[in-house]
Amino acid sequence: MNELNALAESARAAFAQAVTPAELENAKALFLGKSGRITELMKALAALPVEEKKSRGAAINLVKQAIEAALQQSRQALVDAELQVQLQAEALDVTLPGRRRGQGGLHPVSLTLERIEAIFGSMGFDVADGPEIETDWFNFTALNTPQDHPARSMHDTFYVEGGTDEAPHLLRTHTSPMQIRHAVQHVKHHRAADVAAGRLSDGLFSGDMPEIRVIAPGRTYRVDSDATHSPMFHQCEGLWVGENVSFKDLKFVFTDFCRKFFESDDLVLRFRPSFFPFTEPSAEIDIQFQTGPLAGRWLEVAGSGQVHPNVIRNMGLDPERYIGFAFGMGPDRLTMLRYGVSDLRLFFDGDIRFLSQFE
Ligand code: DAH
Repeated sequence: MNELNALAESARAAFAQAVTPAELENAKALFLGKSGRITELMKALAALPVEEKKSRGAAINLVKQAIEAALQQSRQALVDAELQVQLQAEALDVTLPGRRRGQGGLHPVSLTLERIEAIFGSMGFDVADGPEIETDWFNFTALNTPQDHPARSMHDTFYVEGGTDEAPHLLRTHTSPMQIRHAVQHVKHHRAADVAAGRLSDGLFSGDMPEIRVIAPGRTYRVDSDATHSPMFHQCEGLWVGENVSFKDLKFVFTDFCRKFFESDDLVLRFRPSFFPFTEPSAEIDIQFQTGPLAGRWLEVAGSGQVHPNVIRNMGLDPERYIGFAFGMGPDRLTMLRYGVSDLRLFFDGDIRFLSQFE
């Protein structure tokens, strides 16, 4: 009997050592297989006398059952262990914070352009968009900028292929050509009825029309690069043409704009006499904060002036009836002032660490 107990014990031990199902089945074969230990014992029964056969056979059967039970237990243990490993591998910590995909946001200059459009929109200004590749006519000539003006030098301007020597194509150096483009469209639209009714022939338009009130934001280009100049930069043009639009209106509109833009009611503006070929008189506009890190300094933000009669003519309008003002400002600079950024190039390097601060 002792020998049978020992057999059961060694079977249990062998099963317990098996780490994989294959190892367990191998161990099983040793004890319960066709030529395993139990089969061997059964075969040996044949040699025993009948009396012993019975009791010995019953004892072997008990051991066999015990070994089978041990096998079953070990099988279950392996399945449990495998499940445990799997559960651990696939463990989810539901208390961890979620992983978000970066949402992105608008570029700081785009934020400024949106702001400019919203403020001027609230004052009844349309928003116009135009080409960045311009002709010499719209960029210079129509704006009363003579052939020998320094702004036309190769040094200041990117000329591109496609034009002729007399009418070269170039990357617009400012948004001012949009004054002409927009006004010509506006005038064409409103004179059509007069022409159709025979009240008007060719020539400058002096009929009735709604005022032109428009801003034109966009990209502009110059051969220039340092901490405050980039070869590509932004401008926003403004134009208001009507019968009684004066410098006083310019002052009011631009002051209102700057105070709203910077959310500063005590902002002071200075209109400093200057020169631009397309305005007469002309002024540069400086602003001065009364509080904050820039308080007390005069900061230039725009060029402006009363639209020159030659420019009014190039719009197709009669300067005897129509006058107005224009301004051109730098949204990049406005963005720098608003957020306290000191190097313009940061806006165009595309460094996400800088840009994400404005989201
Ligand atoms: N176009 C000018 C520039 O780029 C800025 C400017 C000055 C625009 C006076 C205007 C203006 O409309 O009236 O320097």
